[in-house]
Amino acid sequence: MLDVRGIQKVYESKDRTVEAVRDLTFTLPAGELACLVGPSGCGKTTLLKIMSGLLEPTSGEVRMEGQVVNGPPPGMAVVFQEYGRSLFPWMTVRDNVELPLKQKKLAPARRKELVEESLAAVGLAEAHAAYPWQLSGGMQQRVAIARAVAYEPHVLLMDEPFAAVDAQTRADLEDLIRDLWHRFQVTTLFVTHDIDEAVYLGQRVLILSNSPTVIRDDLAIDLPDQRDQLTTRSSPRFAELRARVYEQIHRSKDAAADADAEQPVAAGPVSGPAPAAPDHSGF
Ligand SMILES: Nc1ncnc2c1ncn2[C@@H]1O[C@H](COP(=O)(O)OP(=O)(O)O)[C@@H](O)[C@H]1O
Ligand SMILES: [Mg+2]
Repeated sequence: MLDVRGIQKVYESKDRTVEAVRDLTFTLPAGELACLVGPSGCGKTTLLKIMSGLLEPTSGEVRMEGQVVNGPPPGMAVVFQEYGRSLFPWMTVRDNVELPLKQKKLAPARRKELVEESLAAVGLAEAHAAYPWQLSGGMQQRVAIARAVAYEPHVLLMDEPFAAVDAQTRADLEDLIRDLWHRFQVTTLFVTHDIDEAVYLGQRVLILSNSPTVIRDDLAIDLPDQRDQLTTRSSPRFAELRARVYEQIHRSKDAAADADAEQPVAAGPVSGPAPAAPDHSGF
């Protein structure tokens, strides 16, 4: 369904070159729910922008259903972290959810059906006529999720969608994602910096290193398919898996710190122009 090959992204500006992503390769089979976990600043959003055709990679390519992605693919929906900026405040909940369906040129009757079904699926059947600013953060993020689901995407990408909501709401929304995935079987890539969230949600967790980013591990999550916050999170297997992810992420941080410490020694005498060192300040 999705094929990510050798993705590298170097941001260049006048006085700064940042190699955000070095080399990312993975595939997502149809119907899979995979999580991508990595520390802040490791290039998760960069990767998602590339996968959704909003940003061009420096090298490598992304294919969706066999087609090279070089603009937003029609069968893909993306949910971003900042629900406050992704919903239009002057439109009702219903109109926000319906907008992409109009762009898809669906008939009014079908649009109405999809809006109703998706709002009911996220528990907002009563909120059609409300405006986003009349809703709590968690409810607004549900609207953004309903909008993505109504679109009937083949692939759903989510970029830290719950980072800005409180812990209880977050737990509810995590269960909502598993529930929607069971119902609609959409191929989903869920990006998070939260290790527990990645293990709880995914069938598989891809672990990213610090920037410049590579994949450190690709871990199958062999927890039972029926998960709940209490039983799953307190199971010994959950603890083992989260420890494994934690260890990988920390090893990668240590490796980055060692590399920084070694830099003056490694510099030595150079012949010819020295390559521009990527600027890792800030993380
Ligand atoms: N438009 C940009 N121009 C220059 N550098 C950028 C830009 N966007 C992101 N970066 C840098 O790329 C790195 C990865 O950023 P990002 O993809 O947002 O990481 P994450 O989502 O994992 O927190 C960071 O060092 C960030 O400062
Ligand atoms: Mg990000």
